[in-house]
Parts: sequence; structure tokens; C-alpha cells
Amino acid sequence: MAEARTTAAELVAQKLRPQRPGEILKEAVRRRHDEARKKGLSEEDALQSLFPTTILDATTLKRIAAAVLSGSNLLFLGPPGSGKTTLAKDIWDLYPKEVLAVEDCPVQDDPFSLVDTAFYHEVPACPYCKARHGGVTAKTLGEFEPSKVDAHKVPAGRRRLREGYGLSRIQGSPEVFPDNLTGAINIAKLEEIGDPSSPLVMEPGKVLQANRGLLLIDEIGKLPRGTQNVLLQALQENVVSPAKSRETFPASFVAIATSNLQDLDNVTEPLIGRLAIVYVDFNEGHAKNATIVRRGIAATRPFTPDAFIEAAATLMQSWRRTAGGTDELGEVGSNRTMIDIVRRAQAFALLAAKDVVEAEDFHQGAKDAMVGRIRARGQEGFDQNRTVVENFVEKKWRDAVKDGVVRSWCRFFVGELKEDKAEALRIVDSVKNKVEGRGGDATKYERFRRFIESHERLDGLAADEATKRIFQLYESTGAFTEKPITP
Ligand SMILES: Nc1ncnc2c1ncn2[C@@H]1O[C@H](COP(=O)(O)OP(=O)(O)OP(=O)(O)O)[C@@H](O)[C@H]1O
Ligand SMILES: [Mg+2]
Ligand SMILES: [Zn+2]
Repeated sequence: MAEARTTAAELVAQKLRPQRPGEILKEAVRRRHDEARKKGLSEEDALQSLFPTTILDATTLKRIAAAVLSGSNLLFLGPPGSGKTTLAKDIWDLYPKEVLAVEDCPVQDDPFSLVDTAFYHEVPACPYCKARHGGVTAKTLGEFEPSKVDAHKVPAGRRRLREGYGLSRIQGSPEVFPDNLTGAINIAKLEEIGDPSSPLVMEPGKVLQANRGLLLIDEIGKLPRGTQNVLLQALQENVVSPAKSRETFPASFVAIATSNLQDLDNVTEPLIGRLAIVYVDFNEGHAKNATIVRRGIAATRPFTPDAFIEAAATLMQSWRRTAGGTDELGEVGSNRTMIDIVRRAQAFALLAAKDVVEAEDFHQGAKDAMVGRIRARGQEGFDQNRTVVENFVEKKWRDAVKDGVVRSWCRFFVGELKEDKAEALRIVDSVKNKVEGRGGDATKYERFRRFIESHERLDGLAADEATKRIFQLYESTGAFTEKPITP
């Protein structure tokens, strides 16, 4: 694993300094942001490039970046399915993976923890390294002192952090006990067995596994209090003490937690006090929502006119504006639902052996995706909510499709034709002639077809066929006579 072997003494001689995970993350964010700006990206695009898979409004992105740069541990708070977990994963991807670590250390100790007194007091070395390099035994660990360590004999090497070694994840639930975080250690067994990685000697818990990197805690409010206290100790002192042990282990990491609003009450006050809360809400920007759907649908068959993707975003935005955020309906408006609407529409088209998704498929897909996310406990509650959701869909789905179609048409009318109405009329005319088998101005038709080809995911469907279907969809919803929506 370790290459480019060196020693702690050489690191000191090179005037290297130990870096805490918080500083490492901060630097990484700053570096990537600078690079993006140098490449000429706008401020918003530069911020988005920090968290490339989590599509968020500019103001939210900025708040997240600022919280990371403030060097604190983070708590992403927001409704279900707003992208909190996706965001936590993006931060892990951003985190630099290469570290210098004491060779053979089971928790990738920083070499400075063994030889630098000041740093040792901030983040101690693990008992195994103390015994191995500090001339102490299991019984005399308390006598360890960095100044007595021969730095030339502390081997260090580059290591790549990965899950279990610098990254760990906890899924919050009442069954996650303190032991899951601390792990267990039997240091007396170490002298007998000699191998620190033996499970008889130690099983590093989630917090030890995160040393030098990140600890992702999903749904932190669902953790029992005792478990939250272990976390608190780690955040306060950078150490944890495994069960049945008086020894302390290093636990230096950045905590990235998520929670929905309801569970926040269950997070203990001192723990919240150590976390910078950032609110990750649903996006207000229509384009952002449409991008989430576009990225979220895996399949491009049957052919799915982009208008339906826009329509899913429109329908969700409309739901979020009108529906109260009760517990039972909380998931109905989530980004997951938004993606699912189009996936289900595709499924309905498939079942009907169609090669193009049609408006009625969208209607069915919207109903099923939304009703399927009602979280009601009893039959009565479910039926009530079902009525609410179904009424909403019946009332709004046509408008949503129309809005999606108008947006799609306007990409052409505004983006390509620069709102030239006379030209638009000529094009509509010639496409109509072509679609209805009457010939006409081929160059006008071509212009529209080329646009369809480059803006829709045809995935093998003949461009003429796609153009025909799109035209019929646009015409049937009256898009050509609508006022333009600027894309
Ligand atoms: N802001 C977003 N950007 C991109 N994709 C998103 C976003 N929000 C949700 N998604 C999509 O929805 C799915 C669920 O998102 P995610 O798990 O990140 O939400 P969450 O906020 O953690 O939800 P929960 O509160 O239920 O844990 C993701 O797999 C992703 O495809
Ligand atoms: Mg989540
Ligand atoms: Zn160690």
C-alpha cells in the first residue's frame, strides 16, 4: 500500500507541517474554486463545479461553500430528497485522498502525532503506534512522550484514503450504539498476537475509520443520545475511547451530517453547537430542477421529448408552492419524485409498446409517482392524502405539459430564431406540410429538424420521426400560439 517510504524525521527536515482534515478540505475547495474562475467560469458555475452532481440554486451553493471554508463540521438540513446525501458524497469526492501516514498504523496516524509534542496534544497517536515506536508497553502507554521517540525510526508513507480508512458513513437509526462508533480494542492481546489488524486486537469503529478524513452521518437526529455523545467527544477532543478500554484513539475528521427538519429536535444541543447548519432546500430555479430530472433519468428509450422533463419540474414546483409540508406528504414534492415522474411515464409508454412517451403517459406517471410517495400510517389517512394528490394532478398536469412544451419550443423560437415571428410561422407551416405528407420548403423544415437533433436525446430514433412526434406534441398543446418563456 505505502510507496515512497520515508520517515517522520525526514518530514520534519522538509519543514512539512501536519494538517487537520478541516484545513485540507478548506484548501481543496479554495483551489478548485480558483481553478474554475481562472478557466473563465462564472461565479455560479464555479460554485457548482465544487459539487458537480448536486444541482442547487446559486444562493445555496454559496452558503455551502462558505460553511466549508469556515472550517467547521457541517449539518445539512432540509426536506427529504433535496440532495443532502448527494452533496455529502460530492464533498467526499472533493476531499484530497492522499495522506502521509505512519506505516502499518491501523488508523492511518499522522506521523507528526508521534514526534511533534504540540500536535500530539491536539491529535494523539494510536496506542499501537505508541507501543511500537515509543518504547512503551500496553501497561505503560500513559508514559508515552513524543520527545522520546526516535523520529528516524518512524516509517511513513503515502496512503490513499478510502472507505474504512479515512472515510466512513453512519446511517442514523436507533440501533446505532456507541460501540459502532468507537469499536473495540484489546491492547493486551496485541502483545500476544502482534498484528494490530487482527480483529481480536481491535475492530475500529466508524469514528476511528474516519480518522484523517471525513465522517458522513446521515440522519443524525435518529442516533441515540449515547451515540451522539461519542460523536461529541470526538469533535471536542479529537479522540475516542473504545469500549472496554481506557486507551484513547485519534479521531480527527470533518463531520458531515444530514437531517430533516423534524429530527433536528433529537440532536443534542452541544452537538448542534459544534455543527454549522446549512439549509439545503428544493431549488427555486426551474432550469436547475429540469437538470436534476435530465440527469436522474437513466434511460433514453422510449424517446422522451425534453418537454416532459421540463413538465415534471414545473409540476413539482407547482406542488411545492401550494402543498403544505406535512409529514405524510413531505416526500411527494421531493426531487426523487420529480425524477420518478418521468421514469414512470417512460414505463407506461413501454408497456403500451410505444417508442415515444406521450402526454397521457406523463399524466399516469405523475399520478403514480406522487401517490406512491405518500407516507400515511393508516388507510384513512392514506385515502385522504391520495385524494389531495390526485386532485392536484388532475388539475395541473395539462398545464405542466403545456408549460414544458412552451419552454421547449421557446428554446428554438428565442434561442435559435431570435424571436423572429415571421420565420417561426414559415417554419411551422413547412414542418406541418412535411409531417402531413405534403412537401413544402425543405430548408425551413431542416432548420427545425437539426435543432431537434441537437437538443433532444434521440438515441437511435430517426430524426424525421422524432421531429414529427415533437411537432405533433407541440401543436396539440397549442405551444405555437403561446407567449414566449425566455429559456
Ligand atoms: N439537488 C440535487 N441535485 C441532483 N440530484 C438530486 C438533488 N436532489 C435530489 N437528487 C436526486 O434524488 C436522489 C435523492 O437525493 P438525496 O439522497 O441526495 O436526497 P436527501 O436530501 O439525502 O434525501 P433524504 O432526506 O431522504 O435522505 C438522488 O439520488 C439524486 O438522483
Ligand atoms: Mg439522505
Ligand atoms: Zn497508529
